Amino acid sequence: MRTFWGIGIFILIGLITAIGIGFFSQFNNTPSAYDDEQIGLGQQTIIKFSYVVAENTPKGLAAQEFARLVKDKTNDSVRVELFPNASLYNETDEVEALQRGRVQMIAPSFSNISEVVPEWMVMDLPFAFQNEAAVEQAFQSTIGDILLRKLEPEGIIGLGFWGNGFQQMTSNRGLLVHPEDFRDLRFRILPSKVIEAQFHHLKATTISIPFNQVYRSMESGKVDAGENTISNIYSKKLYEVQKHLTLSNHAYLGYGVLMNKSFWEKLPQNQRKAIAEAMQETTAWANQNAISTNRKQWEELIKKNQMGIHILSPEERREWQQTLEPVYQEVEPYIGKELMEAVYELRNRFSDQPPPALDYNND
Ligand code: SIN
Repeated sequence: MRTFWGIGIFILIGLITAIGIGFFSQFNNTPSAYDDEQIGLGQQTIIKFSYVVAENTPKGLAAQEFARLVKDKTNDSVRVELFPNASLYNETDEVEALQRGRVQMIAPSFSNISEVVPEWMVMDLPFAFQNEAAVEQAFQSTIGDILLRKLEPEGIIGLGFWGNGFQQMTSNRGLLVHPEDFRDLRFRILPSKVIEAQFHHLKATTISIPFNQVYRSMESGKVDAGENTISNIYSKKLYEVQKHLTLSNHAYLGYGVLMNKSFWEKLPQNQRKAIAEAMQETTAWANQNAISTNRKQWEELIKKNQMGIHILSPEERREWQQTLEPVYQEVEPYIGKELMEAVYELRNRFSDQPPPALDYNND
């Protein structure tokens, strides 16, 4: 009889324990064992990636490609969520949002990064890069190494560089052909001491305005003019609010692709490796794609026939270049000798190379 009661109590305790485990496990969000076939949402690492341009731009397309490659390479254990068009943050607050971990990835322009790491303004120097190959060389040499290294003390990891393209001048108050045509015009600019100095030497005034407010500021007449790539002019429909475009290829617009440092350091080794591989593949693809996107949209822009277009001749280009040469000395204190010397060397090395893809001679 005592054995019978003993067995009964043992079974009862077992049942209560099993029910208890089943009940509590519903509220417990510890991920269950990794399953290659079925990855539950709770197991996915989410990377929020915020940027200010549209999906059909070089950066928007690169971000989509990166998200796809990360999904493939991590077997869907890492998901990159994309927030284009400044839907989360714009240029004024995106770097801080990254540093505070509100988003895990951003890809600001070189100029925007120069607000936290001034050396990045080296990439804004006018007429520093002869063509896209020279820019690529800058990314992959001492210049790129120094710029990426300088981010770490700011709590940022630089995963790479994505290009957009060479910048062109637009205006709503007359065509810009000679340096004197810039006099007294109000230019919308990205925040950068180099860009400020550039327009100062052209005797124009500048206002720094975030990208998602550029159309409105041109439409309302708050600014008269601006500089941007064909893809940004096209995708933001700036041709509706600027009557003139000068194909000047005077400076380069590109991006640092940045990740929050402590988020990166907490990722398991296999995910970091997969993300780094995805970044490398995306970058190779994106920098080629940027050239063809700008070219396609240049052709679309011509078809629209809404802007008067002037293609800067080699003589006019030399005139602009001479006017802007003093900018180099003026900004050296912010950029530092080592980077400036690397730029001079690159400029000399590429000086007899062909011009950028949207050629001022051939198009
Ligand atoms: C961007 O391409 O990220 C924006 C550039 C701009 O603000 O002009």
